[in-house]
Amino acid sequence: MSVDERAQVRLERTAAEATLPLRQRVLRPHQTVHDVAFPGDDEADSAHVVAVLADGTVVGAVSVLREPAPWGAAGWRLRGMATDEAMRGRGIGARLLAAVLDHVRDHGGGLLWCNARVRAVPFYERGGLRTRGEVREEPGIGPHVVMWRDV
Ligand SMILES: CC(C)(COP(=O)(O)OP(=O)(O)OC[C@H]1O[C@@H](n2cnc3c(N)ncnc32)[C@H](O)[C@@H]1OP(=O)(O)O)[C@@H](O)C(=O)NCCC(=O)NCCS
Repeated sequence: MSVDERAQVRLERTAAEATLPLRQRVLRPHQTVHDVAFPGDDEADSAHVVAVLADGTVVGAVSVLREPAPWGAAGWRLRGMATDEAMRGRGIGARLLAAVLDHVRDHGGGLLWCNARVRAVPFYERGGLRTRGEVREEPGIGPHVVMWRDV
């Protein structure tokens, strides 16, 4: 992404509601916008970040919420990472992931984990996460694997 393009996409901290249409469209097209809210979305510690164009169009979104890892350790769960298909490969996802790491750091750091789509594993690896355990099939969504890192 050129400097000009990068300047045209700004990141904004927002309420969960602003992330729902993109979350639904990119990640859960088989569900409705009302179905894609996550438990804990509205907790005070949760953060939602969107990438928006100058005209206000949301082209990227991510959320991070306090939630123990599947193996029981306290931590933060990254959820709902999505970039509009037409805007992929320009570093928007990497900027969103960096904003999540900042949020966790600002809250004292700790374990960050997510259920990653297998297709997205190289993307998260570039952000310092590594896989743990086996690939599992998520009904209606596809193969996933848990990824994590310390922040
Ligand atoms: C994963 C995703 C958020 C990355 O967003 P992005 O803005 O393209 O991210 P960046 O430009 O920083 O990084 C691009 C990398 O994302 C990965 N990627 C590209 N297309 C992808 C896709 N359809 N699904 C998953 N990962 C993808 C690739 O590793 C790519 O690297 P490359 O350019 O070397 O091929 C975006 O591809 C997406 O929304 N995918 C569909 C939904 C998804 O899989 N979300 C993650 C759920 S765990």
